[in-house]
Amino acid sequence: MRIDIITCVPKLLESPFAHSITQRAQDKGLVKVIIHDLREYSEGKHRAIDDYSFGGGAGMVMMIEPIARCIEQLQSERSYDEVIYFTPDGITLDQKMTNRLSLHKNLIMLCGHYKGVDERIREYFITQEISIGDYVLSGGELAAAVLADAVIRLIPGVISDETSALTDSFQDDLLAPPVYTRPAEWRGKVVPEVLLSGDHQKIEDWREAQAYERTKARRPDLLE
Ligand code: 6GU
Repeated sequence: MRIDIITCVPKLLESPFAHSITQRAQDKGLVKVIIHDLREYSEGKHRAIDDYSFGGGAGMVMMIEPIARCIEQLQSERSYDEVIYFTPDGITLDQKMTNRLSLHKNLIMLCGHYKGVDERIREYFITQEISIGDYVLSGGELAAAVLADAVIRLIPGVISDETSALTDSFQDDLLAPPVYTRPAEWRGKVVPEVLLSGDHQKIEDWREAQAYERTKARRPDLLE
């Protein structure tokens, strides 16, 4: 998979892909994340990428031209499955969306800043508008990092234990069961006995029951 992220704050996206699972996925050649600095596509004197909002009001709007130049450059090099725009008024991200996106080959992610992008960019280029929840971020960069991370870990081979991603919370619409490691007793608190029993069927049944109980208590909406 190839993910091209367009941003006016490229530094915000350095660290999320430079460590841990996302870094290893790139080392293994399973994904390529390329960050594009929008200012490099500006032809303005001061590499401007935003301008005043028509009709007035506070806040700048991201200009059409630098974004169009960047997207069209990319689209002339390869075809993209989706051009995603991050915005609080988009569809709220969930695991089903990340599962579906993980099957694609090439994705463009456009991060909004200030008051967002000129509406015509959305009409002309964007195929999916995504929000990561009902709260407002300063820009789309952290949302892009969230989506890219969630997608990358689903690519076959990224997580060594093939079944691990399938037992995540939200796969099967259930939260994940509790997990424990050594020591078996800590300050009088002991690990559930079944986990030490070595009986794999019983352990599996226990985990399923715990996942269900946890979901019923914390996220009953998932069971509906
Ligand atoms: Cl995608 N962008 C911004 N700016 N705020 C958000 C968001 C996105 N998702 C939730 N809040």
